[in-house]
Amino acid sequence: MCGIVGYVGDKKATPILLNALEKLEYRGYDSAGIALVSENSIAIHKTRGRIADLRCIIERDLVDDCTVGIGHTRWATHGEPSDVNSHPHLSKSGRVAVVHNGIIENYIELKHHLESRGHSFSTETDSEVVSELIDYFYNGDPVSAVREAETMLKGSYALGIIFADFPEQLIALRKDSPLIIGVGNGENFIASDIPAILKHTRNVFRLGERELVVLTAKRVNVFNTYGERIEHQITHIDWDAAAAEKGGYAHFMIKEIMEQPDAVAKTVAPRIDECGNIELGFKNITDDDLRSINSIKITACGSAYHVGVVAKYFLKNMLGISVEAELASEFRYCDPIVDDKTLVIVISQSGETLDTLYALREAKNKGGRVVSVVNVVASAIANESEEVLYTWAGPEISVATTKAYSTQLVLVELLGIYMAKLRGSISSEKVCELVGSLQRIPSNIALELRDVQSIQYIASLYFNCQDVFFLGRNIDYALSLEASLKLKEISYIHSEAYAAGELKHGTISLIEEGTVVIALCTYRPLLEKMISNIKEVKARGAKVIALVNADDDQTQNVADHIIRIPACSEIEASSLAIVPLQLLAYYIASLRGCDIDKPRNLAKSVTVE
Ligand code: G6P
Repeated sequence: MCGIVGYVGDKKATPILLNALEKLEYRGYDSAGIALVSENSIAIHKTRGRIADLRCIIERDLVDDCTVGIGHTRWATHGEPSDVNSHPHLSKSGRVAVVHNGIIENYIELKHHLESRGHSFSTETDSEVVSELIDYFYNGDPVSAVREAETMLKGSYALGIIFADFPEQLIALRKDSPLIIGVGNGENFIASDIPAILKHTRNVFRLGERELVVLTAKRVNVFNTYGERIEHQITHIDWDAAAAEKGGYAHFMIKEIMEQPDAVAKTVAPRIDECGNIELGFKNITDDDLRSINSIKITACGSAYHVGVVAKYFLKNMLGISVEAELASEFRYCDPIVDDKTLVIVISQSGETLDTLYALREAKNKGGRVVSVVNVVASAIANESEEVLYTWAGPEISVATTKAYSTQLVLVELLGIYMAKLRGSISSEKVCELVGSLQRIPSNIALELRDVQSIQYIASLYFNCQDVFFLGRNIDYALSLEASLKLKEISYIHSEAYAAGELKHGTISLIEEGTVVIALCTYRPLLEKMISNIKEVKARGAKVIALVNADDDQTQNVADHIIRIPACSEIEASSLAIVPLQLLAYYIASLRGCDIDKPRNLAKSVTVE
């Protein structure tokens, strides 16, 4: 979490840093700050609050022409959000300023070490030890001071560092936290993510693990841990800059919901050839390897994990082998049973989620065959996987994921169909039928997005409710996990997803007059059982919103409101069912006046444990 930026060039650094930080606010937004260096001194401006608050302070206090600086937007881990705990941290001598994304795990030990040598601290953060430690080692050579300090750091870090004595340069390094370098014309940048600098340059590269970069206006020198200069291939970003802007929508979330037809089409279409065959482009995992796989483990966090739970049902049916989905934060510590016959599917939008990255490493250590499903190109998870399937969803800015979720799901399904065909566990007719279904998903989502009014109406009836229960069976239960998360994370309404069959083992005691229940009823084989569950909650006073198939003529007799998905096959339904529930969450949060793209306490990219 946290976003860091840095600029060195010939333009005024302040507006560039503030603009870049605004683009990174999705990573954390409880406090923010910048440090500027000129004429052998460093000036710090920082505050609790949003970048807009920082702007006010800077506009009030500052007139400057500095052309080198670093900036930070924070998601607090150590120490409450406050002015003093905000980054950048300036060493007590005033010689070194640091912005940090990550966690320094041994900061208490380092603090004691430095205190015993006369250093003092003013914040509760782990990051302040970095500026003091570098200052402690500094004797005129910034790079060796940074490298010496680094040998003592345990944990994860992306660091931007400036030295008062070197007002024309910026140093950065990283381990387990993301950092990209932007190469401009007479100016260079560091940032936690590409959208921050897209306005200034499209030429970027990702700094490798434990690499250090020294930037001046004209030079970008990267060094490995042996101090050797290394070259990086520069990637030209061809996104439309508007893809990272709101484009007339009130929030990124609704823009990204609306982009789903296009995003899913971009993920599926290029992988199907004109004869309807699936092409995944694997280079390291062969078809024979995939034939010999005898179990699948899917691991991820948040919504990406929910994709795994939905996909589990599908893959098990397709392949007839054991498929498990496990939270990455559990998987990495549970001594998972993985060997070279296990396919481990790692799912991550950002490709940087720390628990997911470590789950991947655990799977690799045990000899598992690892395929990742990732949106951000060349991110850590993508780089460390044996094979990567990119979702090509474009930049996703809203903290609550929508289009990344939808593209991840179809991509895992595509992998499942590919494997089922290879292994002969489904007929070629079935393969054609399933591929055809996946190709129809974009137009069917577009159909759903044409009618938002009926969802807005339901939102207007229930936006003030206190609790919502999502019920479903089989794949509908898996989908209800994501639907419930969407609602609670952006609207702050308490919500729970429950397997409908479990209702009578506890949840039903919470149902009373007016409790809102959203019943997912798209899984045809268990529809009648769902209808019985709806009757049970209705009998206790619940208001029921049922999500049903286009041709369902039974559920309307028992539910208060019906939301229909378009006529579709079972595999399409798993993609189509979530869309109206994303919309419902969005419109409810909007009516409650919530900060939809930046829900409290959350961050989009969770690069800490
Ligand atoms: C955060 C985001 C979620 C996301 C999860 C995993 O919690 O708010 O939307 O699903 O991280 O992120 P990843 O980038 O690994 O998909």
